[in-house]
Amino acid sequence: MIGDKKIVYSAVQPTGCITLGNYVGAIQNWLKLSEEYNSIFAIADLHALTVRQVPAEYRQRAMSFFAQYLACGLDPEKSIMYFQSHVPEHAELTWILNCFTYIGEAQRMTQFKDKSAKHTDNINMGLLDYPVLMASDILLYQTDFVPVGIDQKQHLELCRDLAIRFNNLYSPTFTVPEAYIGKQGAKIFSLQEPTKKMSKSDPDVNATVSIIDSADDIMRKFKRAVTDCDSVVRFDEVNKPGVSNLLTIFSAATGKTIEELEKEFEGKGYAQLKPAVGEAVAEKFRPIRERYDEYMKNKDYLMSVAKSGAEKARSIARRTLSKVYRKVGLVEG
Ligand code: TRP
Repeated sequence: MIGDKKIVYSAVQPTGCITLGNYVGAIQNWLKLSEEYNSIFAIADLHALTVRQVPAEYRQRAMSFFAQYLACGLDPEKSIMYFQSHVPEHAELTWILNCFTYIGEAQRMTQFKDKSAKHTDNINMGLLDYPVLMASDILLYQTDFVPVGIDQKQHLELCRDLAIRFNNLYSPTFTVPEAYIGKQGAKIFSLQEPTKKMSKSDPDVNATVSIIDSADDIMRKFKRAVTDCDSVVRFDEVNKPGVSNLLTIFSAATGKTIEELEKEFEGKGYAQLKPAVGEAVAEKFRPIRERYDEYMKNKDYLMSVAKSGAEKARSIARRTLSKVYRKVGLVEG
């Protein structure tokens, strides 16, 4: 970690695929943050075990996500990048923080309520404990800022509460993190239900675009994108959510403003708009896909990057955990 730069921490669960929405909403932001801050980006592979995974697929997907981080341009020389499960301190701090978290607090989390409603046959302890593990991720690194989407805001609040509670009971131990509300990337909606956020776990393959989809797949998905029954290319989120979403995506992929694009498509219909957006996105992601294919052919390299990331992460995490163990009165080992 360099000098007294502030620390930014974020993580993604290796489920579904990294979508255009994640890229525009999160990863582009991370790329900027990693220039300015000491940044740490993890693959939250322990978190995603709270729902059933097929082991061989899961392992493959976690590797794939790591390769996609690199392919997007995250630089292991500038950021610490690692798998959460490679740093045992996450699970260890979780146990301690469990003893400072009230069951009621955990049960109040909307994500817990939603997930338990969805997986009624598997309401496991991990699901309830999910935000405590997330708090451990963040607090181990003395994180200043956490770039999170709105759906994770409540978890971050709990994390702050736990840090403050612990600091007050003992003495200042954890940095109390703040949500990073930078210039947020544009919000990208589903191509099939454009009033719903593009979700990496959407079962409808035509609703999302992965950053490593082939150009053909990208073109096909945009050609099938849901629009509306008039044919004017105009940005109007209320009355024309589908077309507005296409314009947002077009703008993100080309750097042109929405107004410029509306002008460009004056008098033209959706039959011209859709393939044009598809081409722009395919072009934008082409270098990422190429780099990704290279990385996936070189697993040894990926593993060596992950290993050195985990070592760097561990040396920071260990320091925080030792402090915590000492403060709660465990005999020093
Ligand atoms: N829970 C987050 C999500 O699903 C992922 C996550 C795990 C995370 N640990 C984190 C995000 C720590 C920020 C900081 O999006």
